[in-house]
Amino acid sequence: MLLAIETSCDDTCAAVLDGPRILANVISSQAEAHGRFGGVVPEVASRHHLELATPVVEAALGEAGIGLDDVEAVAVTAGPGLIGALLVGVSTAKAIAAGRRLPLIPVDHLQGHVAANFLEPEPLEPPFLCLVASGGHTLLAGVREHAGYELLGQTRDDAAGEAFDKSARLLGLGYPGGPALQKLAEDGDPEAFEMPVAMARDPGLDFSFSGLKTALVYLCRDLGDDTVQERKADLAASFQAAVVGQLTGKLDRALKRGDWEAVALGGGVAANGPLREAVAALCERRGVRLKLVPISLCTDNAAMIGSAARYATAIPYPEYLGYDAFASGERAPAGVH
Ligand code: KG4
Ligand code: ZN
Repeated sequence: MLLAIETSCDDTCAAVLDGPRILANVISSQAEAHGRFGGVVPEVASRHHLELATPVVEAALGEAGIGLDDVEAVAVTAGPGLIGALLVGVSTAKAIAAGRRLPLIPVDHLQGHVAANFLEPEPLEPPFLCLVASGGHTLLAGVREHAGYELLGQTRDDAAGEAFDKSARLLGLGYPGGPALQKLAEDGDPEAFEMPVAMARDPGLDFSFSGLKTALVYLCRDLGDDTVQERKADLAASFQAAVVGQLTGKLDRALKRGDWEAVALGGGVAANGPLREAVAALCERRGVRLKLVPISLCTDNAAMIGSAARYATAIPYPEYLGYDAFASGERAPAGVH
C-alpha cells in the first residue's frame, strides 16, 4: 500500500495505490483561487497546499478504505515545480513517513507524467514513445524501461500548456486557459487564420511555442478589438491547430527515426481533444499502438507519482529527514526518478 502526494503546482493531490491499481486519487484544484489573478501565484499556491494537504490525504485514505497504519511507503513529488508548493508536499510526506518509520520515495514530476501510463487498467509496458506536454514542460521521451527515459527533444522556450494559457488570456478567457480555449475553438474554423507552425523545417525533435504566442498577439493587434471579439472562436481554433500541428509533426518525426511500436501521451495538454484525435490518426497511419490514459491521469495527480515511485529508489527512515525539494531549473538530486 503506497500513499502518494503531489503539490508541485496548483493542485493538492493524494492517492493510494496497491501495486498498479488505484484505490483513491483525490485532486483538490486551486484553479478558482488563481483564476482572478490570471495565472498561478506561487505564494497563494503554497498557502492553499498547507491548508489542503491534510484533508486531501485523509480523503484519499478514506476513499481507499484504509488507515495510516496500512501504508507501507510514502511517495512524493520532489520537483521540478514551484519550490514553496513542493516543500509543503515533501514536508507532509516526510512527517507521515517518519511518524511510522516508513520509507520515503521522492519522485520526479515528469517521470510521474510518463508513469501514468503504467497504471491499471491496461498498463503499457516499455518500450514506447511518450509525448509529455504540460503547463511547465513539453518533451518527447523515449521510454525503454519503467525507471527513467531518454530525452529526445524538448521545448526551447514556452511549454505547450503555457502557450495555451497565455493565448487564452489574450482572448479574454479564464485560467486555466487550455480547456477554455479548446471549448471556444469548437465553434471556430481552424483554417481561418494561418498561424506559424514553428520548428517545422528544423531537423531536430525540439519544440518552440513562443513565436506562435507572439504571432497571435500581433494578429489580434492588427485585427482590432471588435474583430477579435467577433472572430474569437476562429482565432482559438487556428491557434489550437498550430499547437496540435507542431506536436504531432514532431511525434511523427520521432516515430520515423525510432522503431517505436507504441505511443503514449502525458501532461495536461494531453487532455486536449483535437490533439488526442490527431495523435490517434497519426498512430493509425503509422501502424503503431496508441495508449491514451483518462484525462484525470493526464493533468496533475498523485496516482501518477505513486506509479513512478514503484520503480524509484526508496530512502529508508531516518535518512530522508534532511531531504529537500528541487525547483524548476534545478538539478534533481541523485537517485530521484
Ligand atoms: O500537467 P498539468 O496539469 O500541470 C503541469 O504540470 O503544468 O498541465 C496543466 C496545463 C495547463 O497549461 C492547461 O491549460 C493545460 O495543461 N491543459 C490543456 C487542456 N487541459 C489542460 N491544454 C489544452 N487543452 C486542454 N483540454
Ligand atoms: Zn504536470
